[in-house]
Amino acid sequence: MTQRIAVIPGDGIGLEVTWAARQVLEAVTIKHKIDLVYDEFDWSCQRYAAAGEMMPADAIERLRPYDAILLGAVGWPGVPDHVSLWGLLIPIRRAFRQYVNLRPIRVFEGVRSPLRDAEPGAVDFVVIRENVEGEYSEIGGRLNRGFPDEFAVQEAVFTRPGVTRIARFAFELAGTRGSYVTSATKSNGIVHTLPFWDEVVAGVAADFPEVRTDSEHIDALAAKLVLDPGRFDVIVASNLFGDILSDLAAAVAGSIGIAPSANLDPTRTYPSMFEPVHGSAPDIAGHGVANPIGAVWSAALMLEHLGHAAAAADVMAAIEESLMAPDTRTRDLGGTGDTASVVSSLVALLG
Ligand code: NAD
Ligand code: IPM
Ligand code: MN
Repeated sequence: MTQRIAVIPGDGIGLEVTWAARQVLEAVTIKHKIDLVYDEFDWSCQRYAAAGEMMPADAIERLRPYDAILLGAVGWPGVPDHVSLWGLLIPIRRAFRQYVNLRPIRVFEGVRSPLRDAEPGAVDFVVIRENVEGEYSEIGGRLNRGFPDEFAVQEAVFTRPGVTRIARFAFELAGTRGSYVTSATKSNGIVHTLPFWDEVVAGVAADFPEVRTDSEHIDALAAKLVLDPGRFDVIVASNLFGDILSDLAAAVAGSIGIAPSANLDPTRTYPSMFEPVHGSAPDIAGHGVANPIGAVWSAALMLEHLGHAAAAADVMAAIEESLMAPDTRTRDLGGTGDTASVVSSLVALLG
């Protein structure tokens, strides 16, 4: 069975790490006799500069028939982020109802976490980020432009169906792992939406008596993630909280360069999208030093989603092996390797 992948490398190191992921996919799909075909789309800030739009008007329609989307990163100096992101990344997440943003965190052998006490293997949790509503709403904007009293407003939108389905996903996932869910909140009276989030999450929790639940204020949770990352299993969070926690957690695990993400439509009505957590990194783009592990791990999540669990496990084993040696770790992990040497090592391990 042929499965079709839409590839959107995007901007900056997005191009470099997507190339890396493609090399690894090539190796592992040959080994496992998996038939993936790719179409690459040049939708990016560069395209915006030339054509005045990040992607064509029929982009969503064109992506619709694919089995999955593999994305690098979006955003580049010269194009305002709100233009590039509302013009490419966010519309895909929303049009395809990718309401789960699944972001696993692990400390690997050979990778030194900035935390002295984080033993490899002892840190293994998943951030389940609500991905289509919450603080990232389209309601609001910049008003009274040009006047001294200009201001910006944005309504955070939390719906009962939206919170219910993300909470349900988190509890179901916890049931297959450590049976422990931490809900990120800010319910101490200031923010109106989070007490509602808490109420809906508690309602879902009641359906999963075998899963332990904690609710933690986002500020305290941020501190606990640094002080004791090993205690977490599944963290469920709103769109903005989940965004912040996943970069924090990735740094705790060594670098944001290794963190992957899966933008999932769990109903499988639409294609899901796989991308590293990091952005286009203009400060290192073009130097060939970007850590490709976040993109490669995202490709492994894609393989798993497409029904190729053994191939995904092989990629993960290659990542684990490759991270052990300093010359196949990139600089952000204290190694001496670069993007190409990590790719060579992964491809050799899969060969
Ligand atoms: P960033 O993730 O691009 O970079 C933050 C820091 O982490 C930089 O110092 C960078 O060099 C480093 N870094 C990131 N990925 C790395 C990797 N793979 N290997 C080694 N080091 C890595 O975040 P930013 O600087 O806030 O954003 C840059 C641009 O990317 C902006 O336009 C932003 O909007 C966009 N962005 C896009 C996405 C996405 O497409 N999903 C995500 C985040 C940021
Ligand atoms: C991410 C990114 C995006 C987000 C930005 C670039 C809009 O930070 O995927 O984590 O906030 O969702
Ligand atoms: Mn982010």
